Amino acid sequence: MKGIERTETGYQPLTALAQGFIAPALTPGGFAVDATLGNGQDCLFLAQGVAPNGLVFGFDIQVGAIDLTRQRLGPAGLESFVRLFHEGHERMGERLAGRYLGRIQAIMFNLGYLPGGDKGLVTRSDTTRQALDACDILLKPGGRLSILAYTGHPGGDCEADLVEKWLNGLDPARWRHETIRPESARRPPRLHCCERIRDRI
Ligand SMILES: C[S@@+](CC[C@H](N)C(=O)[O-])C[C@H]1O[C@@H](n2cnc3c(N)ncnc32)[C@H](O)[C@@H]1O
Repeated sequence: MKGIERTETGYQPLTALAQGFIAPALTPGGFAVDATLGNGQDCLFLAQGVAPNGLVFGFDIQVGAIDLTRQRLGPAGLESFVRLFHEGHERMGERLAGRYLGRIQAIMFNLGYLPGGDKGLVTRSDTTRQALDACDILLKPGGRLSILAYTGHPGGDCEADLVEKWLNGLDPARWRHETIRPESARRPPRLHCCERIRDRI
């Protein structure tokens, strides 16, 4: 898929690959979601893509992640293009479906725990599943979804398998997706790059 580039030295870090995949879906004035704010790097990237006039909706269960994201957005002058929710992404559908149904250009998930933070505050299969279901109705045709899933922490394997099961259940007439797994790592993370297929005219 366009946006996933392999370099001569192998793949870029998966976080950079995820952003590279998402970038073509973003336009100024559009709407995007960062489903796991963490330290705000993806949120900053999304805000740069939709500003000016657009909006990014960000979710995280940790107040620390909300603060870190604000600290990153402030100096870039992008805070006014972001709405931060201190709550789980499982509420994404409830929060956004009314006004933004089928209008979101991009959604990013970087699952797991906040690096350097409390490893107990980690994404979980059941709530991840609820959030992924919401993506199916929120994304616009041509919209893109990236899911970076890790397998090295307790529960990670299970969550990564759940994500693959969810992807395999998608209607191929509405979605296409591709998975990248680095060959070198022992318990490799998986990056899923998904696109809502444009409606046929
Ligand atoms: C790997 S970090 C995200 C990194 C982030 N995307 C970035 O660019 O820095 C995973 C984050 O998911 C958050 N998280 C855990 N459960 C969550 C949930 N149900 N909804 C939203 N975020 C959650 C954690 O608090 C943590 O901050």
